Amino acid sequence: MPKFIIKGGNILSGEITVGGAKNSALKIIPAAILSKEPITITNLPNIEDVDRSLEVLTDLGAEVMREKDSVIINTSKINKNELSHSMANKFRGSIMFVGPMLARFGEVTFPHPGGCVIGAGGRPIDLFLDGYKAYGAEITEEAGYCYKIKAKKLKPANFFFPLVSVTATESMMMTAVIIPGTTILKNCAMEPEIEALANYLNSQGADIKGAGTPTIIIEGKDKIKANKFIVIPDRIETGSFAIMAAAANADLKITHCNPEHVMALLKIFEKIGVNFSTGPDWIQIKPSSSPLKPHDIKTHEYPGFATDLQSPYVILMTQAHGTSLIHESIYDRRLLWTDMLSQMGANIVMCDPHRIVVQGPTKLYGKRLVSPDLRAGIALVIAALIANGQTEIDNIYQIDRGYEKLDERLRLIGADINRVE
Ligand code: EPZ
Repeated sequence: MPKFIIKGGNILSGEITVGGAKNSALKIIPAAILSKEPITITNLPNIEDVDRSLEVLTDLGAEVMREKDSVIINTSKINKNELSHSMANKFRGSIMFVGPMLARFGEVTFPHPGGCVIGAGGRPIDLFLDGYKAYGAEITEEAGYCYKIKAKKLKPANFFFPLVSVTATESMMMTAVIIPGTTILKNCAMEPEIEALANYLNSQGADIKGAGTPTIIIEGKDKIKANKFIVIPDRIETGSFAIMAAAANADLKITHCNPEHVMALLKIFEKIGVNFSTGPDWIQIKPSSSPLKPHDIKTHEYPGFATDLQSPYVILMTQAHGTSLIHESIYDRRLLWTDMLSQMGANIVMCDPHRIVVQGPTKLYGKRLVSPDLRAGIALVIAALIANGQTEIDNIYQIDRGYEKLDERLRLIGADINRVE
């Protein structure tokens, strides 16, 4: 199993480029099923989850021609309506194939999706199933934790999400694009990736209004054309690198990003004394002589503080001078990784599964660790970069899922990090 070997304490400086957003690419790729014409996607991040998503498409019979950071996808020859179990249960993004397959072929069989084990009961999909039922589909549970969904004819729906869900919003929005009639979705998620998906589908002839607001209205069509899509910058990679620079008191310019998409973090940076400035597509972090101040956070749906930045933020608070409360309101298990951080010397008290109190500043010491999930993985890398001594991080597939060539990019800004097979 490959692992990272990191020696902490190096001064980090220079420039780092943000890649295309994982959580946008993982929706655009399945959306290619909605059109029979070939589509081109560029600024595609070269990460494991994108590889998995393209593998699922190829397995279904689509033609996938990939070059560096772009891919041409032709789904006209798809000849299967069952998602491969071994592929689909590796990542959460596999659920995004279900809606387009149902809309185009009227039937789809798929396993419960995989992904980070951070939610209760292995990332539920009840909102998706309720949504497909609202479109007139019938669902049967098959052996092996698998579902078959069928619909003679899908109908438009008026659906209220009882819980704000990013992928459930995206799935129902893209599915309605080729269900003739007016679909109204309420209490939708508002993440930038949802607006990017809607803009892309509208450029193909879809009629989606309200993406990025709680109410989305879709006028379904018989079919949509094809077009070229440029994946938006990854806001979570942006935030992860900004927090890394702040924690390491680095002189780092983060380029090819959109500062507007990490405003909740930047507002906190102002409060805690991080020395930063921004431009249209960059964030510059500079070393600061004043100590970091603690600041409580509660994770929230966009545009609030992103749950995906909670783990890196905890590292920052171990270096703040005082006490901070971290409230993870979205997921039930997303703070369990902090036990490993305590082993590195952090002073953390877990009040309940959703809240921890962090006391800083504390010295961190290198340890042998295992990355439990994608975002805890990047947090452990940040901890290792500022720790005394050497850290080994195992199971770095979890990090490669969302951060392209992380070790190569960090070496370029001065980090002592190596990948050992
Ligand atoms: C997306 O996951 C992202 N993944 C996650 O990023 C991100 O943490 C999350 O949105 C929240 O921002 C992708 O886009 C591929 P949710 P998603 O549905 O859509 C519950 C990363 O690190 N829920 O908004 O799965 C769920 O358990 C990943 O890049 C149901 O109960 O998250 C959670 O508590 C991690 N039933 C809450 O809703 C459902 O049917 C919000 O989850 C669906 C979700």
